[in-house]
Amino acid sequence: MKLAIASFVVCSAAAFVPTGGDRQFSTTNPSTTELYGRKPFISGNWKLNPQTKEEALTLASGIASSINENSPDVDVALFVPYVFIETAISAVGGKLAVGAEGVCPHNSGAFTGGISTSMVKSIGVNWVLAGHSERREIFGETNDYINAQCLKIIDDGMSVMLCIGESLDEFELDLAGSVCEVQLKKGLMGIRKEELDRVAIAYEPIWAIGTGKVATPEIAQSVHAKCRAILADMYDQEAADEVRILYGGSVTPESVDDLMNQPDIDGALVGGASLDKDKFGRIINFKTVKTAVHV
Ligand code: PGA
Repeated sequence: MKLAIASFVVCSAAAFVPTGGDRQFSTTNPSTTELYGRKPFISGNWKLNPQTKEEALTLASGIASSINENSPDVDVALFVPYVFIETAISAVGGKLAVGAEGVCPHNSGAFTGGISTSMVKSIGVNWVLAGHSERREIFGETNDYINAQCLKIIDDGMSVMLCIGESLDEFELDLAGSVCEVQLKKGLMGIRKEELDRVAIAYEPIWAIGTGKVATPEIAQSVHAKCRAILADMYDQEAADEVRILYGGSVTPESVDDLMNQPDIDGALVGGASLDKDKFGRIINFKTVKTAVHV
């Protein structure tokens, strides 16, 4: 399936550009990769929320009810705390996927607090997050550990969403592309081209996570295009054109449409706004002008 951009609308989005950060990015022409029909993927990351099973049930069913016959043709997933996975699965009635926020790369044994791929798979999970900046920063997860998680998830037949992204300092030093390159190459080491259909990438600039500072669509597009070029270098252009690259970092109902109109932005990974059924419902029902033309 191929996709072409049919028309454009002008939208406004409150976006934050860090000092100095605008010098490295310019608005790019639509890339050839927009010709590839990647199915949009909207996902929520609940993190350490909500606090009770009842709240999880209400939130998950409220989000599921926002998906209707008028919704875009989009994959939707919620990454939720382990203890709420089964509750959320039963609440959403198959309208969306429920994933795990992470896994231990080991099978079994003396890993207190660990949760294995087999455990989450046995309760119906397919998608698992890896490499979130909070896991990297707060829990000290290294690129090697994240790579072990990715390999375990893929080896066990599941799908992984690998999160990458630079800090504010790195952004201002023009290092966004370099940081993403290291995290992509190390995170995906050993994953074969034929396994990439079970991989999604979430580009999440750390300076935009939970801060209310959304990267401008142009900044996000520029880094997404760079990530796709890195994937083409690691695999080939065909493989790179098929991998979905999501943007994450303070995505809101106000910013999602402009972001989703960028040719290399294939979806969103949403934290704060995924805890509000109305906000996340609006994000799922984003409005894009990227009109699919089947050729
Ligand atoms: P945010 O979180 O939307 O609250 O910025 C995104 C994330 O951390 O995945």
